[in-house]
Parts: sequence; structure tokens; C-alpha cells
Amino acid sequence: MERRPLGRTGLEVTPLGFGAFKIGRNEGIKYPEPYLIPSDDEVARLLDGILDLGINLIDTAPAYGTSEERIGQCLASRRDEYLLSSKAGEQWKDGHSCYDFSPEAIRRSVQESLSRLQTDHLDLLLLHSDGSDLQLQQDGVLPNLLRSLRDAGMARAIGMSGKSSDGMHAALEWADVVMLEYNIDDTTMEPVIRAAADQGVGVLVKKGLGSGHLMRKPPLHS
Ligand SMILES: NC(=O)c1ccc[n+]([C@@H]2O[C@H](COP(=O)([O-])OP(=O)(O)OC[C@H]3O[C@@H](n4cnc5c(N)ncnc54)[C@H](OP(=O)(O)O)[C@@H]3O)[C@@H](O)[C@H]2O)c1
Repeated sequence: MERRPLGRTGLEVTPLGFGAFKIGRNEGIKYPEPYLIPSDDEVARLLDGILDLGINLIDTAPAYGTSEERIGQCLASRRDEYLLSSKAGEQWKDGHSCYDFSPEAIRRSVQESLSRLQTDHLDLLLLHSDGSDLQLQQDGVLPNLLRSLRDAGMARAIGMSGKSSDGMHAALEWADVVMLEYNIDDTTMEPVIRAAADQGVGVLVKKGLGSGHLMRKPPLHS
């Protein structure tokens, strides 16, 4: 499968990645329909199949239930075949999202992710924003912390998965990569994507199909 440079990170990614939310969590979801979490056998076949297809990017997070643990169990032996993106700042506990962006919590979260994922480094480490994108980065503490984790070898590239256009614009100042929503129904982030391209910041698109909601709309007729 084709590989493209991810901004100036030096990483090369396939145009399609695998978002690993649905293998770990089915509560508190934004999808149109409920679903069952796949069994261990199904997850093993799915994850092996993704790599066998040539897809080389997997995105997960501590907030995705058992997703990180399952990726570690199934794919630790194939770790050199994929780039691993995970996040910090949000946890999923007792059916609720909990956010803690204190430096200690972020550091601890990354260490726990590495342990669950059975690896010594992430390829991408993203702040998992609660929506307050600008506040999270305005005093520079979290960008500096992520830089120090990158310098320590815990992640090869850093950035933020955010929700607001101004927050994502601000992140271009320090991030190697941003993750943002972009699809045919919501093109708000287009100027951010263009600015990221100009500045050599990689862009990962989340919700490219509107989390499945787009598929429920009647087709457009010309
Ligand atoms: N805050 C964050 O950082 C954040 C937020 C959201 C997402 N993400 C990342 O982005 C990944 C993908 O997010 P997403 O799942 O919202 O992305 P998406 O690609 O917009 O939506 C995928 C959903 O669309 C459904 N779908 C696809 N084709 C369909 C069709 N032809 N008919 C009906 N349904 C169809 C899929 O169903 P099936 O599963 O049945 O195929 C799945 O439920 C996540 O796993 C996560 O890694 C990050």
C-alpha cells in the first residue's frame, strides 16, 4: 500500500489507518447503533488482517477501554510492522470519561500505555483534548512536557487530538501532528489542514465518515 510522509516527522503512513476505539469500548459512544465488543479471536484476526493488508498506522487511547491492552496482546510480536498512535489526558473509568492533564498524570498515563501496548515507545503521542484545546496549551507546560517525553524516547512525534479550529491552529506552533475531524458534512477544519501542510505538520483525520452517521443520510441526487 502507498505510504505518505506524515508532515516533517520522518514517519511514513498508509493513507488509511485503523482507529481502534471499537475493539475496546462500547459504552458512552457517539456511533448511531450499539454494537458488541469483538471476542479475543475476532480481534486477533482483525488486527493481523489489518497489517496483512499493508495498513501501518493504528490509533488508540487509554480512554478506549481495553483497546490498548488488546493491541499489545495481539500485535506485540509484529511491532516493527506498524506505527502506534496513542493519547494521554483522558481515561475511561466506571462508565465515564475522566480528564487529568497534570504533568504527573500525563507521564503516568504514557508509562501505563507503554506497558499495556507491550512496547518501549509510541510513534505518536497526542494530547486527548476535553475540548478546551486552547487552555490546554496556552501556558506551554503541556507542549513542553510532551517535548520532554519525545526527547526521552517515549514517543517519536507529539501533538494533539482536538476539537476547535482556533485550538488546532495554535497547536501547529508546537505539534508534529494534529488529529482533527474532517468529513463531507463538516469541513470547518479545512483552513487548519492547509496551514498544517504549509508548516510541515502532519494531519490525521478522525471521524472521516462522521462516525457512521453520514451513511444513514439519504444519498444525494444530481
Ligand atoms: N477525540 C479523539 O481523539 C477521537 C475521536 C473520535 C475518533 N478518534 C479516532 O478515529 C477513529 C475512527 O473514528 P470513527 O469510528 O468515528 O470514524 P469514522 O470512519 O467516521 O466512522 C466509522 C464508523 O462508520 C461506520 N461505517 C463505515 N462505513 C459504513 C457504511 N458503509 N455503512 C454504515 N456504517 C458505516 C463504521 O461501522 P463498522 O464499525 O460496523 O464498520 C464505524 O462505526 C477512532 O477509532 C479513533 O481512533 C479519535
